[in-house]
Amino acid sequence: MALSFRFWRLNLLPKPSLSHLQTTLKALKPLKQKLSPICSLPMSSSSLNSLNSHLSVSKNPTFSEPHNPTACPQDDLVVLGIETSCDDTAAAVVRGNGEILSQVVSSQADLLAQYGGVAPKMAEEAHLQVIDQVVQEALDKAKLTERNLSAIAVTIGPGLGLCLRVGVRKARKIAGSFNLPIIGVHHMEAHALVARLNERELQFPFMALLISGGHNLLILARDLGQYIQLGTTIDDAIGEAYDKTAKWLGLDLRRSGGPAIEELAREGDAKSIKFSTPMKQHKDCNFSYAGLKTQVRLAIESKNINATIPISSANSEDRRTRADIAASFQRVAVLHLEERCERAIEWALKIEPSVKYLVVSGGVASNQYVRARLDQVVQRNSLRLVCPPPSLCTDNGVMVAWTGIENFRMGRFDPPPPADEPEDIVYDLRPRWPLGEEYVEGRSEARSMKTARIHPSLTSMIQASSQQQP
Ligand code: KG4
Ligand code: ZN
Repeated sequence: MALSFRFWRLNLLPKPSLSHLQTTLKALKPLKQKLSPICSLPMSSSSLNSLNSHLSVSKNPTFSEPHNPTACPQDDLVVLGIETSCDDTAAAVVRGNGEILSQVVSSQADLLAQYGGVAPKMAEEAHLQVIDQVVQEALDKAKLTERNLSAIAVTIGPGLGLCLRVGVRKARKIAGSFNLPIIGVHHMEAHALVARLNERELQFPFMALLISGGHNLLILARDLGQYIQLGTTIDDAIGEAYDKTAKWLGLDLRRSGGPAIEELAREGDAKSIKFSTPMKQHKDCNFSYAGLKTQVRLAIESKNINATIPISSANSEDRRTRADIAASFQRVAVLHLEERCERAIEWALKIEPSVKYLVVSGGVASNQYVRARLDQVVQRNSLRLVCPPPSLCTDNGVMVAWTGIENFRMGRFDPPPPADEPEDIVYDLRPRWPLGEEYVEGRSEARSMKTARIHPSLTSMIQASSQQQP
């Protein structure tokens, strides 16, 4: 079996200079007094090696080393997490023992509803308008000031560069002013790890299906920072398909498309329209939603649905047709997830027979139908499903703070930036940032479909199949 992955922390920030090191040691000193030697959190075997606490980090600050065997958990760490990778501006304060002290999210849903998607420049502007207020509110709700913080965690990728920059600048400004260490966080890693905040028994290795607006990922998490990518999307993510379907059906997008489809689908007949399941012929764990999107669009066109008439004004027959499309779309979109998860479980158990959990997280994981269907897959394979509560599935600051805590405990952080850092500095942002290494055995010929799927003959086949009636 060919396996390839690198043992590197996702946080590939530059090695610290000597002066940076001294600054960090100074910053860490006051923390020593606050540390608790007791660990009540789920820990990987390597991190259980020592409970020697911060002192060891100070002595041996291996900022970009893959593992710091002398690092340890600290319940009374207090970390501020900042998230601005896409369309939500979020901040939260979380304690090392998993206690959420505050959580604030400012959504750009109105902008989304107006423009039907995220426009980077407008999203950046919206983040800039609220970032100070969101962070301040998170501190106020936690009844803390910056002086009470142990570190700041911030999403540095993947995401929209312009948007990531807003969060990173804010984080570095606070970290510089208050001499705080900083942790650069991978957005999708954060979606996966936040499951460990709620589920104390969730130990490595575990599997994770991460389903959001921009990503579909199936990973095997072997340890903190050690991920094998079993599958990814070759075109659109499932959340994008939910959002476009909702838009074309004239649904209210103010809470994003996913919840609107979930709600309407409850009224519809999920077997009324025969959409075909994507990538049936590809025996791998990759995903594709572009073709299903096209099938849905063609079905909507063939039924003469007028999306400019909002669903609230549609007559009962029109509403029924829209509900049937929503339900039929959702059934097939989720069937695709189910099929890929079945195979991924097989693969993961070959690599790590001790896997017991499948984490399902990311915005789409807040969907009850998705959870129920995946629960059946997991049970058939004698595993357990772990889904964070919906407010922690969609983008939030808690997941960023928590991922910061997990990494900080392992000594993986950056020293405080200088207090007088210039505004125009080039930050370490990673708009495209893979999570882990691809599982070589699963490398897919399906990637070649990327160009094939737009071939006109395929479009007409799709059209024909979407017009089939039961
Ligand atoms: O993780 P997330 O908040 O942001 C990204 O990282 O993209 O995911 C947002 C996506 C959107 O596409 C949204 O429509 C979808 O999650 N979503 C849902 C539900 N709630 C949010 N999709 C289906 N059902 C839901 N209940
Ligand atoms: Zn997300």
